[in-house]
Amino acid sequence: MKRILLYTLLTLSPMIADDMQKAEYFYLTHGCQSCHGMYGEGVSAPRLQGVKEKVLYERLKNLQAGKTRTTMGSVMISFAQSMDENMTRTMAKYLSTLKTPENIEYYEEDPNEDGTS
Ligand code: HEC
Repeated sequence: MKRILLYTLLTLSPMIADDMQKAEYFYLTHGCQSCHGMYGEGVSAPRLQGVKEKVLYERLKNLQAGKTRTTMGSVMISFAQSMDENMTRTMAKYLSTLKTPENIEYYEEDPNEDGTS
């Protein structure tokens, strides 16, 4: 029994990783990061980090049905609709794993800039 379980895990895990990569690729190539941030930290759009997969999925389904949660929400409807059911599920899972890497420094000063211009 244990052996079967292990075998299933080993064969399934590359598939899961592959799905996560697809979602990441979609997220970074469809403009999602421009509003939600590279790590879902939230720029001009709601922060996605730390939101549960189930909640993200439900919000995406609502948006696909045209139901928004904030006053600026309508910009998100077409983005939500650009994902098929499979991608919506995978995206919710992917987004729920997002974290800002600890070693990243924001707003680093440009070493060539002397600050006088
Ligand atoms: C033009 C800016 C913009 C872009 C680009 C964008 N979003 Fe959004 N997104 C929003 C706004 C605004 C909301 C809030 C929607 C609402 O009020 O219901 C939102 C909501 C969401 C939500 C629900 C979270 C919540 O708290 O409401 C998810 C998940 C999401 N976006 C994922 C994505 C994905 C995936 C993409 C790319 C395919 C994307 N977004 C592209 C602006 C954007």
